[in-house]
Amino acid sequence: MSERDLSVVVFGASGVTGRGVAAYLAERAEEAGAKWAAAGRDPEKVERVLAEIGASAPETIAAEVGDPGSLAEMASRTRVVLDLVGPYTLYGTPVIEACVANGAHYVDLTGEIPFVGRTIEAFHERASEAGVKVVEVCGFEALPPDLSVLLAAETARERWEEDLAEADVAVSTQQPAGKVGLGDMMSGGTMQSMAEVFAAEGAAESADPATLIADPELAAKVRDASPIELAPRFAADGVVIAPMSPAAFINPAVIHRTAALLAEERGEPVEPFRYREGIAIPGGTPSLPLRYGAAAALAGVQAGFAALARAKPAARRRGAGYLRKVLPGSGFGPKGARLEEWSWQLALDARTDGGHYLRVDLDADGHPGYLTTATMLGEAGLMLAEDGATPERAGCLTPAAALGTASLSRFERAGARFAVSS
Ligand SMILES: NC(=O)c1ccc[n+]([C@@H]2O[C@H](COP(=O)([O-])OP(=O)(O)OC[C@H]3O[C@@H](n4cnc5c(N)ncnc54)[C@H](OP(=O)(O)O)[C@@H]3O)[C@@H](O)[C@H]2O)c1
Repeated sequence: MSERDLSVVVFGASGVTGRGVAAYLAERAEEAGAKWAAAGRDPEKVERVLAEIGASAPETIAAEVGDPGSLAEMASRTRVVLDLVGPYTLYGTPVIEACVANGAHYVDLTGEIPFVGRTIEAFHERASEAGVKVVEVCGFEALPPDLSVLLAAETARERWEEDLAEADVAVSTQQPAGKVGLGDMMSGGTMQSMAEVFAAEGAAESADPATLIADPELAAKVRDASPIELAPRFAADGVVIAPMSPAAFINPAVIHRTAALLAEERGEPVEPFRYREGIAIPGGTPSLPLRYGAAAALAGVQAGFAALARAKPAARRRGAGYLRKVLPGSGFGPKGARLEEWSWQLALDARTDGGHYLRVDLDADGHPGYLTTATMLGEAGLMLAEDGATPERAGCLTPAAALGTASLSRFERAGARFAVSS
């Protein structure tokens, strides 16, 4: 890897999220001593899109998912490929194949959990042997809660030699002033990716918190200790907790895999902790019944997703076909200065098996899904490209297992500040 001329390549740099990653690296790579390039199937479009946002790349590489030679050439030149070409169920595997075969770390933003399961089956062993990290779900889902839970678990071990028994995550967001429409919230790429989950083989796995755990005994324990609950909950100060949006079924599977991977590495048995998460709807106006009603409506949407994921294949495929048609496509989504008008916080309250309490706070700037995701992914790419900035382990890893907590302060540069207290 040391002979590669590039540290990081942003593949799919013309997309809604890819351009944000490119913009971050255009500003940040030089001070990190990294060489980067943008890549896409239409290099002229990539250059045009990046010029529009004032973020030119030092080099643009032509690469197309349907052309394995172009992917191999891209992967063989760089230490890390950041893959922004989704839906990953349709386009991810050839890029992972090229990275594993050519010794480049691979990172993506997928939330398509059945696809993550297929990737682990197909690539974990090969990637481990090749010393390659395949890091999936490395955006707003699931990097922030995954790293926060790992930070709490490591702190509990250091301070008291105890493990986590419970971890409750609540995310709050502050939106831009004025009307916030669908195009401010979510991209067409994300919506099309959600449709692909329902069409995918094994769609029902997406609602299983233990789907990414290979050991069936441990998986059963995780399902028992930590089911995904959709009903709204009350928290302190009149806060109502709604299920995580846009999907309540992504983070739990990743977080439980992190705990399983790290316990396996230590050679210790895992006693699963209860993980819960949601969006905090704060007290005040609107009134409590209205807030609870909004949370119940969000819970209804998630219950509908779960029902569709568990439906018979023909019904799922019909549902996915309908969603593909009615939902916006590639290119639609939050862009420009408006992305900077958002901010968000994640609060993790954890209890250990010895009865100690810990809190991890994450305070972040920008739109969670399309600005902080882009900057954190860019920083994660730089970290993975550097010798010694991340743990030695390889294989199909979660964000927390791949990045570890030693370099957490690096995310401050990306607008995301983690702090732990007890
Ligand atoms: N987990 C998270 O928090 C999170 C956050 C944001 C996004 N995401 C995921 O990230 C993915 C991208 O989202 P997005 O909104 O940025 O999507 P997008 O705007 O549709 O961008 C897709 C990119 O893929 C490229 N592409 C499509 N087909 C290709 C092919 N055959 N070969 C090479 N490149 C190809 C497009 O190139 P052209 O411009 O040439 O069409 C574009 O650059 C989605 O799966 C989304 O769900 C996840």
